[in-house]
Amino acid sequence: MRYPAGMNGPGFYQSRLQRPGAVLAPMAGYSDAPMRQLAAEQGALWTVSEMISARGLMGGGDTEKLNLGRPYPGEQGRVVQLFGAEPDVLAGAVDRVGTWFSPAAIDLNMGCPVPKIRGKGGACLLQTPETAYDLVRAMRSATTLDVSAKIRLGWDHDRSVEVAQGLEAAGAALITVHGRTSAQRYTGQADWDAIARVAAAVKVPVVGSGDITTPELARERRRMGVAAVMIGRGAVGNPWIFRALATGEDAWPGAWQRARTALRHAELQERFYDDDTGRLTLRPLRKVLPQYLPDFPELRQDLTQVLTAADVRRVLAPLLGEDGPDVTPARPAEYAVSHS
Ligand SMILES: Cc1cc2nc3c(=O)[nH]c(=O)nc-3n(C[C@H](O)[C@H](O)[C@H](O)COP(=O)(O)O)c2cc1C
Repeated sequence: MRYPAGMNGPGFYQSRLQRPGAVLAPMAGYSDAPMRQLAAEQGALWTVSEMISARGLMGGGDTEKLNLGRPYPGEQGRVVQLFGAEPDVLAGAVDRVGTWFSPAAIDLNMGCPVPKIRGKGGACLLQTPETAYDLVRAMRSATTLDVSAKIRLGWDHDRSVEVAQGLEAAGAALITVHGRTSAQRYTGQADWDAIARVAAAVKVPVVGSGDITTPELARERRRMGVAAVMIGRGAVGNPWIFRALATGEDAWPGAWQRARTALRHAELQERFYDDDTGRLTLRPLRKVLPQYLPDFPELRQDLTQVLTAADVRRVLAPLLGEDGPDVTPARPAEYAVSHS
């Protein structure tokens, strides 16, 4: 099959990297279809799904796993991330993902530090990188799509250059590096000098990840030799960061546009998860909605109680009532979000 340039298919990463912009990070509990849609609309280079268990997918795929990988209607440029530790299971999952979710490319998670997945993949693979190389080879044998990997610097010390070179030799088309060790979890600062060393040590594109919260910082990091930067926590309630990096213009949305987008996020959430079971609520969005409106702490309490998009509309009515878009340029850099 032939794919038009920039669409899903082999060479996806190289073709997307011809454009300016930044990548939406995979974030369990956040980078679901509604968040990906908002980021893509604002010009994200590509987006990455929440990590999905390869074993879980091979077990049949219940609604939750399907929702993790399922595209929204018309979704393009979405990479599906898998975690696992067994080559045959990963190969089977890659095949299944290709059929079920029409991904643009498939990424191997080598960075998740949570104990729940220890021994089952994630950052553990940094202790036995030969297993990861086998996984990449097995994944590649099951698809013509690009296969990439997302690593941390190491398990408890930096061995990222060695691991990245091994992944490259195994056929990874791109490597994303989160500049912390697994032992660091999310503490301290991401080590961008270490990310730059990896970028200089391999021929495949390297995407850098860690602590980017403003367009200025993204541009500064981009100049460190990486092919692109990835943004996670700094994009929560802030899809406009992708527009700034795609267009070079740092316009800052005002209250009306922020409220409008928060409401739209809630509406997309209802539409995507509507499964006729009556169980849908906006509970997972409660942590996100206040981040759209950091200048309105008085709304925080109400935004963390919402159950439906109608509730969100009611809470935001005072802001939505104003007449129309109000984009103001030049917002101070410290206006970045901070997260746990
Ligand atoms: C809540 C949360 C969930 C995450 N889930 C994933 C995941 O599923 N897969 C993955 O590779 N990284 C995951 N990460 C790591 C991010 O992709 C990213 O590398 C890290 O947060 C550093 O970037 P940031 O400072 O821009 O958030 C997660 C991070 C957070 C905060």
